[in-house]
Amino acid sequence: RDRYTGLINRYRDHLPVNDDTPLISLGEGNTPLIRLKNIPRLLGKDVDIYVKYEGLNPTGSFKDRGMTMAVTKAVEEGSNAIICASTGNTSAAAAAYAARAGITAFVIIPEGKIAMGKLAQAMMYGAVIMQIRGNFDQGMQLVKEVAAQAPVTIVNSVNPYRLQGQKTAAFEIIEELGRAPDYHCLPVGNAGNITAHWIGYCEYSSAKSDLITEACAFCEGKCRYAGGPVIGGRPKMVGYQANGAAPFLRGAPVQDPETVATAIRIGNPQSWDKAWKVKEESGGWFDELTDQEILAAQKMLAEKEGIFCEPASAASIGGAMRDIKAGKIAEGSTVVCTLTGNGLKDPDTAIDQCKDSRMVTIDADLGAVRDAIVSNM
Ligand code: F0G
Repeated sequence: RDRYTGLINRYRDHLPVNDDTPLISLGEGNTPLIRLKNIPRLLGKDVDIYVKYEGLNPTGSFKDRGMTMAVTKAVEEGSNAIICASTGNTSAAAAAYAARAGITAFVIIPEGKIAMGKLAQAMMYGAVIMQIRGNFDQGMQLVKEVAAQAPVTIVNSVNPYRLQGQKTAAFEIIEELGRAPDYHCLPVGNAGNITAHWIGYCEYSSAKSDLITEACAFCEGKCRYAGGPVIGGRPKMVGYQANGAAPFLRGAPVQDPETVATAIRIGNPQSWDKAWKVKEESGGWFDELTDQEILAAQKMLAEKEGIFCEPASAASIGGAMRDIKAGKIAEGSTVVCTLTGNGLKDPDTAIDQCKDSRMVTIDADLGAVRDAIVSNM
């Protein structure tokens, strides 16, 4: 059996690389697709729900799929430095892959609004961190302006190689299920990931999409998944936002986005037009959740299934559960929810919402432990 060496090697025929491309990889991709056991029963609905646990990537989020591709191409093109704006996960991934490549990562993050785990990662991997008194959208604007003047490669999802790497999640899902799901639910911030998945589904089924021409302009169609079996169907793509940061629901950018799900605290999505195209082509929809709904879904997934994702990721399962209950997602459907990031990324939010957890402080003696067991059985 071949050793798994990351998604570029796995799907190299469908990505813009050649034999001389120096791959920068940390073994990303190949994440588990876990079938939920208890939640469908609790919903009382006959629906197959799978979660794609992207939190098990090397830096704990789906960003690694895009970053292996973006940094590989940056290095191939001779770049010595990369830059991104980030709500946390992109900065962690950029910092790690830059470290691996031996180049410099500059990251711009909103001061006080990124989860502790993500900040720890960027610091440990040795990125140059610029905390701004501003939000992600302002950081993104600055990145675009500075990259036009300085010799740094942008590795936000406006870099088309990012979407090329991220599309491989759809390939993995089709190969594991033997077909595309009926619905694919994701949290939406900048809307790069929902776009990348749709590109992946379209390529795999050799279906036409306006987004593929655009995405493939730089690799002369080489990324088209022509060799795979043409198997049925593409999912409806469903994008969920936090209601304080829901430009797709408002139909316009949001000035001061706010949500406990800091990963998707974004008011001006970079892939705006592409995401509307995805909705139109797939027949899917956008919807929004309150912070309370997001946190309740995060807790439920952890308590009922043993799967710990970060708050933003829980928007996918929270939204899907609501739409299944309402019948908007029909019984008999197969649903995939992407869990974009690991729960360990944001320990503060997790601990905050577990104030009523079953934790007791007791003396270090046998009687106290025995009493605690008896009274909590
Ligand atoms: N979930 C998580 C955990 C994220 O970190 C992000 C985006 C998303 C969902 C939304 O994905 O932007 O492709 O629609 N995080 C970016 C970052 C913005 O900087 O880490 P999207």
